[in-house]
Amino acid sequence: ADTLTILGLESSCDDTAAAIVRLNGTAEILAQTVHGQAQLHAAFGGVVPEIAARAHAEKLDLCVAEVLRASGLTLRDMDAIAVTAGPGLIGGVMSGVMCAKGLAAGADLPLIGVNHLAGHALTPRLTDAVPYPYLMLLVSGGHCQFLRVDGAQEFTRIGGTIDDAPGEAFDKTARLLGLGQPGGPAVEAEARQGDAARHAFPRPLLDRPGCDMSFSGLKTALLRARNAQMAEAGGLTRQDRADLCAGFQAAVRDVLAEKTRRALAAHPDLRLLAVAGGVAANQAIRAALVDVAEGADTRFVAPPLALCTDNAAMIAYAGAELFRLGVRDDMTLAARPRWPL
Ligand code: KG4
Ligand code: ZN
Repeated sequence: ADTLTILGLESSCDDTAAAIVRLNGTAEILAQTVHGQAQLHAAFGGVVPEIAARAHAEKLDLCVAEVLRASGLTLRDMDAIAVTAGPGLIGGVMSGVMCAKGLAAGADLPLIGVNHLAGHALTPRLTDAVPYPYLMLLVSGGHCQFLRVDGAQEFTRIGGTIDDAPGEAFDKTARLLGLGQPGGPAVEAEARQGDAARHAFPRPLLDRPGCDMSFSGLKTALLRARNAQMAEAGGLTRQDRADLCAGFQAAVRDVLAEKTRRALAAHPDLRLLAVAGGVAANQAIRAALVDVAEGADTRFVAPPLALCTDNAAMIAYAGAELFRLGVRDDMTLAARPRWPL
């Protein structure tokens, strides 16, 4: 009974995912799959909730069948079903919760509703077995916050964005410059060829104490710089684009790095900095965070990219920790569009 095997489901945004995680002293991902919906939404320039919900409903069973087949296990081998119950796009979350309820009822298994953010925040324990407590910087397309993590149900928000998430700003920047989606990797690639010093982008909220951040002003600054350049020269050259990307990325990097430095300074008992979310894939941002951690004599942990972005292994793992704590949900489990940690 010391071994726990959990099936996890994730469908809160534009990835449909299932995974089987086993806890047996250490955590092991027995199988996982992610079906992205990027192509479905590409023509619309953003995630369309209705299309997302329908695709999740279609793909969830397939994902479950896939991980069961890949692991050679059946539902009978599971100890519980864990599912993202929020926050996220409500149609997608409902699809996942309904699928999980069906599986749990059919196989007579306990059901555990997992907060998507808790899934991200606990990932370094899945990948690197890090001990509590630690500082988590969650930076994605939808989220940006510092969390003090003291346990699987003990999260303290130390600060975060007061408007847009950085990934959203990267995506918007890419759109304004005619680059592809998702914008983060496209902007990062351009920024490598660019001169960050050419445009003076703001560093929002650095003049204010605390760990809150703001990224919507950067979008506006980029739009203004782009328009000025277009008015002056009648268009954008490849170099113009690269310089705008470099300037924008440097501003995001500086804000994240300085606020991380402050978060660590305010919580000297936290000897470990972990990152998660798609933006943590950015090499320039990651390098700056490594520097901050080194400067604070703090260990730095970044899960492999596939586990930094949306996936179901993190949900299965978080479900396993909650199961150990005695958490059980039942058929009244509700899908929650908003669910602060
Ligand atoms: O965590 P994630 O896959 O999904 C959620 O938002 O939950 O993050 C996706 C976001 C997108 O906004 C994407 O543009 C951004 O992460 N992103 C990046 C990079 N790779 C992905 N942002 C900056 N640099 C990157 N290399
Ligand atoms: Zn996420």
